[in-house]
Amino acid sequence: MTKDSRAFSGQDLSPGLSKRPKLSPQVFELLRELIHNKSGLRFEPDKRELLEWKLAPRAEALGLGSFLDYYYLLKYDSSEEEWAALMDALCVPETYFWREPDQFEALAQVIAPRFFEARPDQTLSIWSAACCTGEEPLSVAIALKEAGWLDRKPIRIIASDASPAMIRAARRGVYRKRSFRNLPPALRDKHFEPAGEGLWRAKPEIKEKIVYRTANLMDPQSEKLAEVHVIFCRNVFIYFSEKAVQTIAERFYRRMLVPGWLFVGAAESLLKLTTGFLFEQIGSAFVYMKPEPGPAEGPGKDVSREETGSFPEVSPSAGEGRG
Ligand SMILES: C[S@@+](CC[C@H](N)C(=O)[O-])C[C@H]1O[C@@H](n2cnc3c(N)ncnc32)[C@H](O)[C@@H]1O
Repeated sequence: MTKDSRAFSGQDLSPGLSKRPKLSPQVFELLRELIHNKSGLRFEPDKRELLEWKLAPRAEALGLGSFLDYYYLLKYDSSEEEWAALMDALCVPETYFWREPDQFEALAQVIAPRFFEARPDQTLSIWSAACCTGEEPLSVAIALKEAGWLDRKPIRIIASDASPAMIRAARRGVYRKRSFRNLPPALRDKHFEPAGEGLWRAKPEIKEKIVYRTANLMDPQSEKLAEVHVIFCRNVFIYFSEKAVQTIAERFYRRMLVPGWLFVGAAESLLKLTTGFLFEQIGSAFVYMKPEPGPAEGPGKDVSREETGSFPEVSPSAGEGRG
């Protein structure tokens, strides 16, 4: 290996300082593009050290001397296993129960009643598309249980994440205090049972309604999961490139059942993108809706709405009646 190729590979050339390989600007470019294509995740130019820190344990575990070797492994001989391990490494595991609770209220108090009024025997299907350790789908189940729908009506909740480690934790359903920081204590005591020092386990009656699986949103195979009425895809688009968000939003729109509702995080917006979704406000929550064809689509027809792409900005309007 020449000095130049060493510099390109990012191998540390200063003995004694650190044995850990460094991520050179050139290899950073290669890796960030590969990661973006596979996962949608965007690493801006100033995030080189962050990526180095996240990937170093993988390169070390595989006994690789440089990040260039790791890049070649991912690009040319990587199994799905290594990509799964990479998604574990890249995951930002920040989530908690009752995060942005207006959206759960909108689901349980407005969307579900309208849905079941128009379709008393149909199954309401819900997908938590980047569920992390499972607090989001359990919040959905709790909100629907509290409103009396979960036991009375057919409801299907699918929860997925690109990180297999997160899905394993979600399946376990055991949580620490941090996860409960926004959940009213009365709801915690009702839907969880003590599971040892500082730990709480979700009770079967809410957890058994949820089916868990690993799925990468950028993988076309995950498209089938979007065949539901309600998608929660929250606090993951903030890490994606605009191009990736557009791809996923189009996919959701194409596959979602009608009527369909898409919730994204409060810090996220699809309004700059061109999609077929209509933008609605339900109470204090904002939601993107795929309406039924026709001039009056039933659920949601009495709320203000604009097609995304032409809606100038979010305007706080009077909340809808909540039950
Ligand atoms: C910050 S957490 C958000 C969890 C939850 N939705 C919430 O709002 O609290 C982001 C999650 O997105 C997942 N993620 C990142 N890229 C993904 C992808 N391409 N497909 C599916 N999940 C992905 C991460 O593994 C992580 O669990």
